Amino acid sequence: MLERLQKVLAQANVASRRKSEEYIAKGRVKVNGQVITELGYKVNKTDLIEVDGKPIKLAEHLYFLLNKPTGFLSTASDDKGRRTVIDLLEEEHKDVRLYPVGRLDYDTAGLLLITNDGDFTNHLTHPSFHIEKEYLVRVTGIIIRKKIVELRNGVTIDGNYFAKPKEVRLVELNKEHQSTLLSITLIEGKNKQVRKMIEAIGFKVKNLTRIRYDFLTLDGVERGKYRALKIHEVKQLHAHSMTKR
Ligand code: URA
Repeated sequence: MLERLQKVLAQANVASRRKSEEYIAKGRVKVNGQVITELGYKVNKTDLIEVDGKPIKLAEHLYFLLNKPTGFLSTASDDKGRRTVIDLLEEEHKDVRLYPVGRLDYDTAGLLLITNDGDFTNHLTHPSFHIEKEYLVRVTGIIIRKKIVELRNGVTIDGNYFAKPKEVRLVELNKEHQSTLLSITLIEGKNKQVRKMIEAIGFKVKNLTRIRYDFLTLDGVERGKYRALKIHEVKQLHAHSMTKR
């Protein structure tokens, strides 16, 4: 597949796309031994690309942080033809076998990682890795303090699973609209865990958004949009998942 040189440099984490363009314009980039200063120049995977005389290592793996809207499945494809998070990616990313790391419900919005790196996914989704996930959950009705304490102490879901959150914070009581906004941080991830925990204290979720995954937040990423993870973020996630075993 042919790609623009500046994009390949950015994907290989040489520099941002803009900075990579500067490198090209300044004649610092060679393709197959020849200096290329044309910005739209296209390369493919077999080309030898050098920056300042040093060959770059082509990034084989992609890592994205998506701000998922509701109404999309967290799968790579759906046999019933429903929209999936992969449909939110640009055309150029649709053919690299990307899939989500873990899952957010169809009706849940927020931070979802997408990658084509199986090891990375296995690390992060393995139950023994304690990655914090923070959710903002709007609940119908006013939740009194006693119920919040009940949530904090842990509740039984699925008949026999004791779900104890890492943290529960009251963010807002909205008397006018009769709703409560909570922040719930989990280190596990049972299917529909937040919804089931809220149901266990007798309430219903109005809407649910994941706002944090370990140290990653949605900062700068609009709903329905995504960004590439920086190489240091990928390394940090790896490091966290290894040390939190
Ligand atoms: N908990 C839920 O109930 N749903 C999600 O999508 C994520 C966590």
